[in-house]
Amino acid sequence: MSAPNSAADRHFLMFQNIFLGIFMIFKELFNGVRTRSLPFLECFLIVVVFQAIIFFKIDYKFILNSRFYFMYPQSKVGFVIYYSSLLLSPFLIWAFTQVLKKKKLSRRLTEVFSAGGLKNNLGNLPQFIFDNPLDKSTRKLRLTNAILPLLSFEKAKGSIESGLQIFIDEIKENRVGGTVDIIYAHEPMPSVFKLENIQDAKANEFFIGTTRSKVLKIYLEEVPHLLVAGQTGGGKSTFLRQFIATQYLCNKKTEFTLIDLKGGLEFDIFENLKRIKTPQNISESIADIQYLAEKLQKRMKVLKHNKCKDIEEFIKIPKEKISYPPDLPHYYDSLARHIIVVDEAAEMFLASHLASGKEVQNAKKILSQIARQGRASGIHLVVATQRPDSRALDPQIKANLTGILCFQMANDISSITVLGNGRATDLPPIAGRAIWKRGIEMVEVQTPYLTPLEAEEVLRPYYIEPSIVSVQKNEPEIEKKELQVKKNAKV
Ligand SMILES: Nc1ncnc2c1ncn2[C@@H]1O[C@H](COP(=O)(O)OP(=O)(O)OP(=O)(O)O)[C@@H](O)[C@H]1O
Ligand SMILES: [Mg+2]
Repeated sequence: MSAPNSAADRHFLMFQNIFLGIFMIFKELFNGVRTRSLPFLECFLIVVVFQAIIFFKIDYKFILNSRFYFMYPQSKVGFVIYYSSLLLSPFLIWAFTQVLKKKKLSRRLTEVFSAGGLKNNLGNLPQFIFDNPLDKSTRKLRLTNAILPLLSFEKAKGSIESGLQIFIDEIKENRVGGTVDIIYAHEPMPSVFKLENIQDAKANEFFIGTTRSKVLKIYLEEVPHLLVAGQTGGGKSTFLRQFIATQYLCNKKTEFTLIDLKGGLEFDIFENLKRIKTPQNISESIADIQYLAEKLQKRMKVLKHNKCKDIEEFIKIPKEKISYPPDLPHYYDSLARHIIVVDEAAEMFLASHLASGKEVQNAKKILSQIARQGRASGIHLVVATQRPDSRALDPQIKANLTGILCFQMANDISSITVLGNGRATDLPPIAGRAIWKRGIEMVEVQTPYLTPLEAEEVLRPYYIEPSIVSVQKNEPEIEKKELQVKKNAKV
């Protein structure tokens, strides 16, 4: 290349870099405003100080008395540029520091990926694309996948976390774009999450837990059936308790059938409540769900007859326009949602001293139908299990449980059976820590902790016969003590 050409190239490169730099600063500014991560108040206070400096001409006196006196703007246009850049400077400086941070991150990533062995066969490392805030505490880091499978990124999760001093919430793959998104935070996840007000949920909304940055709430309409899996002591029954209590309090009509064949007393606190049924054995449970399956059939017929895709659509039809199928001319239904909760599915789906083979087959058939058609007719299924294998949990039912909350699993096989990967095995051994999976989305959560006593407390106004419900059997020491203290206080 000739000399003038390289000079032109150099100039072009310089302008390109300046332009790119300015573009990146404004992009950061825009991101900061969009995600509210820009420290607006601090910047605004600095602007006020600058404004005062200009107003009292402190800058004018200061610059004129320095050897840079010639820099003070002489023309009106010059002054406008000077004035506006001074006022904008706190925002631009903040955006500039963000750009520098990203550059530093990009360099650090190269080191971390090399150390973590995140390299493809050609020796290429994933490349930094962007690192944007998602909200105040979570960020999204996008990388090229360097033709590496998602599993490689998941394996390197620990070294990325310690190398970058971050806590990863989720790693997502975008196969079409050939990129990987890492959702992370600088804060660790809390090991106990208490709901400030259990009645904060809206109708049909329930709490999954908290991620590092936000409380996850889901609507039953979006996720009509749930699978709650995990080894013993993970927090399944505690989650169910919180779920049932929230749903009971936040929906004034929703009805419940709570099945616990394990012989524990998990659902004792829900006895004595108007809209809750707690069948005591397999035959009673089958009779109750059989009744619901029949209700489902009738609801489906009425919905179809009125050309409604679900109960939500049906509710909106004016009463005078509703028509009934010929075989159900006087059908009446409060159209209340009904939630069936089964704590420990294996007890229901494995023949034992509790259930005969015929009863098991019957239960599977009915629950499978509810899982398939329940969403439209407002009948929901929540199944908890320690054993997610096909013998202990009917595959047809499992396939329709679209929301999965998986607490720690003992081995990869169980985790893969539930989540499709081994993430639940890698969870820290903290009660209440789980993976929430919905479709392809997966996120680590700390589920809400509601003790039996607290649940009893919030439900107390609704008990038909106010009494202390026995919750102490099978409860851990701390919860027993809590209950005892309260009983003593009452005496
Ligand atoms: N979200 C939580 N936060 C804090 N502690 C929790 C949480 N969930 C559960 N725990 C603690 O772990 C204990 C066991 O929880 P839980 O009985 O819900 O487990 P489980 O999964 O139902 O076990 P099992 O399969 O044996 O029935 C609870 O008594 C409580 O002390
Ligand atoms: Mg349990």
